[in-house]
Amino acid sequence: MEACLNKNVTKFILNKAKKKDFVKLLYNKDVFKPTETSKFLLEAVVNNFPKKKVNVLDLGCGNGIIGIYLLKKFKNISNMSFSDVSGKAITNAKQNCELNKISQNRAQFIQSNLFNNMNGLKFDIIINDVSGISYKIARKSNWFKNIPCESGDDGTKLTLNVIKNFRNFLKPNGKIFFPIISFSNEKKIINYFNKSNIKAKMISINKWPAPKEFYNHIIMMKKLKKLKKINFDEKYGLIIANTKIFQAN
Ligand SMILES: C[S@@+](CC[C@H](N)C(=O)[O-])C[C@H]1O[C@@H](n2cnc3c(N)ncnc32)[C@H](O)[C@@H]1O
Repeated sequence: MEACLNKNVTKFILNKAKKKDFVKLLYNKDVFKPTETSKFLLEAVVNNFPKKKVNVLDLGCGNGIIGIYLLKKFKNISNMSFSDVSGKAITNAKQNCELNKISQNRAQFIQSNLFNNMNGLKFDIIINDVSGISYKIARKSNWFKNIPCESGDDGTKLTLNVIKNFRNFLKPNGKIFFPIISFSNEKKIINYFNKSNIKAKMISINKWPAPKEFYNHIIMMKKLKKLKKINFDEKYGLIIANTKIFQAN
């Protein structure tokens, strides 16, 4: 997935990506570093991307990987709004747009807590990737060191907020893509779809082994699982989680 160009810049390479679509990334230690979930989300979005002209919101953009990859790949994107609650993420996403020679008139940057600073904006496509795992797990992981993750014990707080509000920011016939990770209460989110008449369709599922830092916290993780706040399997001595990607409108 990654190749190091020099000590500061890394190339992000999606499976089967053409060389012209490789994304160069400058990392900042206080900005989320793309993971397997970033890759699963991108793959699912690429496979389901519309052909018509669209404007897109990259919500929870981190260093900009999702939006930049899509801008490089799809010329039918008229504009990408990169948004994150973290000012450092916004600065990093701007730097990475420049590094990848993204034209300034195809990118805008909005520092915002979820949709709070987006009044009046409407998008054809929203890609939601705000923090969506249990806060208790996030704080033990290497992924979320100094990264905002007010997702609650069961990881659903931010995702549910997005799902309750996204329709106010979509154009007619627009759609949202988002991951649901098993280190959150997936059922609570899926029950909300049913209750509120949101047509959500799962478009991919990928299993992955948890990184090694989690094994020191297995007792806490089992407690959360027993309380149905998260879910995972244990096989061959490994903790196996999964990421499901959904689209909804
Ligand atoms: C899982 S990371 C994804 C980053 C990027 N999309 C990627 O794939 O590398 C989640 C991002 O959501 C942002 N975030 C957390 N809480 C947020 C909120 N309330 N509003 C907007 N963004 C938020 C974090 O700062 C972080 O950059």
